[in-house]
Amino acid sequence: MTETIGRSTDERPFPQEGRERLIYPSPVGWKGTDFVDNEHELLARLNPKTVFMMGDNPALPRMPERPRLLDFFRCRFGDLTVRHLLVSGKRALDDGLPEAVVMACLLHDLSNGCLVRCDHGYWSAQLVAPYVSEEVAFAIKYHQALRYVADESVGYAYPDSYHKFFGPDYQVPDYLLRDAEYARGHKWYMTARQVTLYDTYFFDDFPEVDPAVFEDVIARNFREPEEGLGFDDSPASHMWRTMIWPNNFL
Ligand SMILES: [Fe+2]
Ligand SMILES: [Fe+2]
Repeated sequence: MTETIGRSTDERPFPQEGRERLIYPSPVGWKGTDFVDNEHELLARLNPKTVFMMGDNPALPRMPERPRLLDFFRCRFGDLTVRHLLVSGKRALDDGLPEAVVMACLLHDLSNGCLVRCDHGYWSAQLVAPYVSEEVAFAIKYHQALRYVADESVGYAYPDSYHKFFGPDYQVPDYLLRDAEYARGHKWYMTARQVTLYDTYFFDDFPEVDPAVFEDVIARNFREPEEGLGFDDSPASHMWRTMIWPNNFL
C-alpha cells in the first residue's frame, strides 16, 4: 500500500507542471471568516503561465493512483483527527468490543480530517456507507447527536469539553435532539453509544498507535473498491475525490 506514497518512490509527473497554480479555497471553509473573497482577483491573474489548480497538488503528500482507506489517514487527515481516530479505535479494540464498534470508532470523525467539520457525523457516515455495514454507518451518523445527550445508565455525561468548545450556555439544536431520540430507540443504539464512550479528545497519555494494527479489522469490515476510493462510481466517490484533490477549482 505504501509503495506509491511520496514523491521519491512515485515517478508520475504532476499536472500543470511549469505553470503557477492558483488556489481558490472552497467557500464552505472560509465563509464568515477574515478571508477576503479573491475570486475576481485570481481570475484577472490568469494567463498561459498561470492556471487554477486541478489535480495533484505538489505541496501535498501524493496519493496512490488507487487510494485505500489508510492512505487518507497518512496523506490527508490533520494530525489531531488521525490521532483521535486511531486512539478511539485502539481503545475499543483493546477492550474487546465488537468489530462494528471498533470500525465506527476508527471512522467516526473522518470528515473532520479533510472534508467539512459541520455536521461531521452525517458527512462521515455518507463517506463510508457504500463500504461498511449499515450498523457501522448508523453508529457514525448518530454518534454526533448522541454526544450531546447524557445516558446515565451507561455512564455517559454531556462532555466537559463541549462546555469549553461552545460555551456553557450553548443550546443543542432541535435536529440533533430529534436524531438522538430516534437513535435511542433503535436496535443499534448501543453501537452508536459506544462510539461516544470512546470519543475522547484528551489522550496525551495514550501511546502512539500504528495504523497498521487496524489492517485486519479493516479487511473484514471495509470493502475497499478495486479502482480505489474516489474512482469506483459509488454515491460517495466524489467526496473521496474532493479529499484527494481538495484544491481543484471545479
Ligand atoms: Fe464526532
Ligand atoms: Fe470524535
